Amino acid sequence: MEFAEVLRRRRMVRDYDPDRPVPAEVRERLLAHALRAPSAGFSQGWAFLVLETEAERDAFWTATTAPGAPDGWLTRMRRAPLLVVPFSHKAAYLDRYAEPDKGWTDRDESRWPVPYWDVDTGMASLLMLLTAVDEGLGACFFGVPPERVAALRAEFGVPDEYTPVGCVSVGYPGQGDKRSPSLKRGRRGVDEVVHRGRWAG
Ligand SMILES: Cc1cc2nc3c(=O)[nH]c(=O)nc-3n(C[C@H](O)[C@H](O)[C@H](O)COP(=O)(O)O)c2cc1C
Repeated sequence: MEFAEVLRRRRMVRDYDPDRPVPAEVRERLLAHALRAPSAGFSQGWAFLVLETEAERDAFWTATTAPGAPDGWLTRMRRAPLLVVPFSHKAAYLDRYAEPDKGWTDRDESRWPVPYWDVDTGMASLLMLLTAVDEGLGACFFGVPPERVAALRAEFGVPDEYTPVGCVSVGYPGQGDKRSPSLKRGRRGVDEVVHRGRWAG
């Protein structure tokens, strides 16, 4: 698919055909493409938890959502045959930037203009979203509530120093996919957000 077409088609898909698993080669391409993301200092401080069996996916949803009857969003999202949880690893950046060519040996976090570990893991996540579209599948990036992060780590044996930046659900789109109400906001235009030469407005 043309790159511009991938971009045009990219949108979050929130319902999946539960009877169509993600082909293994597509799953592997998603993951390989994620690793093509840029990273500060080429730190690559990220990790990806891949959940595919019903038991693994159930465990994810149980750990990350409130008990009780699932709402419509959760019912549809639970049909996704593949979940990839991207984790950022801050310590990898502090270690990398303490190396001689960077020299931030004090590991002072105030040196970081923004948390590059989360930025880079977000970029890797976007590559997975785009790859899903390119492969004719759908995907959604969604958040893990902060109060559920400890349960997620405990369930899957994730060390405390890894932080889930969200989760990417992947699969063939289902019939019940609904557009997000947020889309009513409309996409902001270039003239609204781009400042050429000087901040205007
Ligand atoms: C950081 C981030 C967090 C998001 N969290 C959620 C979420 O928790 N649940 C959800 O359904 N969509 C989530 N989304 C998807 C946005 O709602 C979606 O990207 C936005 O409405 C624009 O729609 P589109 O991506 O289909 O173009 C998230 C997107 C981003 C980038």
